[in-house]
Amino acid sequence: MTETLNFDNSADKTSQYQQLLPQLEALISGEDDLIANLANIAAALKQSMNFFWVGFYLVKSEDMLVLGPFQGPIACTRIPKGRGVCGAAFEQGQTILVPDVDAFPGHIACSSDSKSEIVLPAFKDGKVALVLDVDSDQLNDFDNTDQHYLEQLMEIISRKL
Ligand code: SME
Repeated sequence: MTETLNFDNSADKTSQYQQLLPQLEALISGEDDLIANLANIAAALKQSMNFFWVGFYLVKSEDMLVLGPFQGPIACTRIPKGRGVCGAAFEQGQTILVPDVDAFPGHIACSSDSKSEIVLPAFKDGKVALVLDVDSDQLNDFDNTDQHYLEQLMEIISRKL
């Protein structure tokens, strides 16, 4: 496994994701420990895309998410199903893109600096097993390109679940 990322941060966002995804897949290909893999993915996303907060919440019971590996400021440890953006993505089993967190009913403000976010689920045996949460300190910072490539990342992660 290579321990450095090959990444051109002057490229456009589509090219950045296209560079990144095969490297993320390679990063976790030789390891089966989920926490180790999620920790490296969070670090690689932070290092390359420079997200404000990026990390995972893991499904711990029928109705509760618990904080997993992340990079960024300290965060809420538990999120009930249906609460906030993460809890909504868990409940609905689909990506939720929020251009303005203040306009999202029930948004959980772990940090008042967070302005927009995208949350995506990964599935094991047809059920949500974890969500990826990416937060920005800018309004309207995520779009269909982020959704498209981060959903591909969730498929890569799902294959290791
Ligand atoms: N804003 C999220 C909570 C998690 S953090 O911001 C790290 C939400 O509403 O689900």
